[in-house]
Amino acid sequence: MSFVSVAIDGPAGAGKSTIARAVAAQLGYLYVDTGAIYRTVGLAVRRQDADPHDNASVIPLLDGLSVELRIEPDGIQHMYLNGEDVTRPIREPEIAMYASAVSALPQVRAFLLEMQQSLARTQNVVMDGRDIGTVVLPDATVKIFLTASPEIRARRRWKEQQERGNGESYDQVLQEVLQRDDQDTHRAVAPLRQAEDAVLVDTSELDLEESISAILEIVKECASHERGAGEAGEKVPLPHGKAVQTLVPCGL
Ligand code: DC
Repeated sequence: MSFVSVAIDGPAGAGKSTIARAVAAQLGYLYVDTGAIYRTVGLAVRRQDADPHDNASVIPLLDGLSVELRIEPDGIQHMYLNGEDVTRPIREPEIAMYASAVSALPQVRAFLLEMQQSLARTQNVVMDGRDIGTVVLPDATVKIFLTASPEIRARRRWKEQQERGNGESYDQVLQEVLQRDDQDTHRAVAPLRQAEDAVLVDTSELDLEESISAILEIVKECASHERGAGEAGEKVPLPHGKAVQTLVPCGL
């Protein structure tokens, strides 16, 4: 039996996790946040006071490291580091930078690959990350590249942080967004890039509800086509008369 997999890749702050979680809930699929897996390794490196950019300091740590992803009965993904539930601490802004740095190391990516692939082998999934459509699930049923301008992404992230009582300024958040974009797109291994057969969705002009509708429409469209079908430049209609231009057809 084959399962449906929806790969959603894109830069930090494009709304991937919120959108992917909502899409998965509507479809009744498992939602997998792969960024959380890299954050768990980032946290481990931080706790060991190791330099996350330095292969020689990080690789030895992988040996004794247990990184586990468990879906709790409420359907929420929890991350465990050596048996400890680290779902909350991995969300600290500092850990995002550690995650981004360690994710550039090939050994770290190899260490986490099978864990991600095995989840899609046994159930329908919506998986978000940076290299899901290009490396982790190259045969995903539907691939989406979700993006928005850096300024819009920084503003959204800044608002979220304000609501949580975090005091970073908008300019600081924008600098972090730009720095992470740079690190994630310029690394040698599995850099962030749009898969050739991914549908590009720019959420700069869309609110959350519109973004979710856009993805659900694309999933419906792509899953109903054989791979190889679909028209480039087709417009996916959205509420309020907006439309998302699908720049690349589903499954080239
Ligand atoms: O999605 P996020 O912000 O939680 O991801 C944290 C970092 O992990 C991000 O800067 C890049 C890295 N990452 C990756 O390299 N590959 C993935 N599939 C997911 C995340």
